[in-house]
Amino acid sequence: MNLSWPLPKNDPWSTPFAEVLLEHLDIFSGATILDIASGGGIPAFNLAEKVGPTGKVLAVDIHHGQVLRARSILNKNLPWLQFEVGDMKNLPPTLSQFDRITGNLSFMFFRPNRYEALKQLLQFLKPGGQIVLTFPSLGTFDSLWQRIDYEMKIRELIKERKALAEYIEERPSASQAKEWLEDLGMEKIVVSERPLEIKSSSGREFLNHPLLRGGFLDDAYECFEDQVLANEFMTVISNDLPSFLPITAQRCAMSGWMPKN
Ligand SMILES: C[S@@+](CC[C@H](N)C(=O)[O-])C[C@H]1O[C@@H](n2cnc3c(N)ncnc32)[C@H](O)[C@@H]1O
Repeated sequence: MNLSWPLPKNDPWSTPFAEVLLEHLDIFSGATILDIASGGGIPAFNLAEKVGPTGKVLAVDIHHGQVLRARSILNKNLPWLQFEVGDMKNLPPTLSQFDRITGNLSFMFFRPNRYEALKQLLQFLKPGGQIVLTFPSLGTFDSLWQRIDYEMKIRELIKERKALAEYIEERPSASQAKEWLEDLGMEKIVVSERPLEIKSSSGREFLNHPLLRGGFLDDAYECFEDQVLANEFMTVISNDLPSFLPITAQRCAMSGWMPKN
């Protein structure tokens, strides 16, 4: 199929996760899809093109700015694709049910009670429908977290080390995702993980890496009350990059089917 809306080739993070999502998703012409945490439209545009004009894709994101950005890309194309502001953890009960629910890089934002959020979301899946969510699972960037933990240990940064341990503990795992899909009565469950290596040079490039900075390195800085100390500490870590290569994320996809009745 020759697509006018392929996944962007130059996206180093969303696209590799979306590829895993699409591998798990059983899509058909005319399907209705709820795409949560839709951001700038990966993979909503691609999904909309595949379901075609007899289908429908509702893409929901909590940030108004993201929705406006996606709408401006959409312009007057694919009129059966709609971007709306909404909280995936608190969708209106009047919303209809969909053939598919997708969410690329979404499940980590289901906190604090991921199980409950997943349960609520499944209300919007039709009997016989499929849900596929992706997220960076436990194990993502472990070599970095271990290096940071070691540095905190030798510097006796007790509070900061505790904050790091809590952050690491709180990340969602593939096994938990599988268990929850089972608990919620889903069928034909598949949960897979695929590594994704992140390339970077030492020092400033590492600290400003667009992918690591938004969300991951920020979490490391948040372990510190003293941001001057955090900056000095993270500079030391960044200059020691070769000691914790490769930096690898785990692309986890969780897929399950709602029983027919
Ligand atoms: C990492 S981005 C992924 C965006 C897109 N799916 C992609 O793959 O590029 C995560 C998105 O989740 C959105 N988000 C976070 N919490 C949310 C919530 N409670 N409801 C809806 N969207 C949420 C953020 O605004 C952000 O756009």
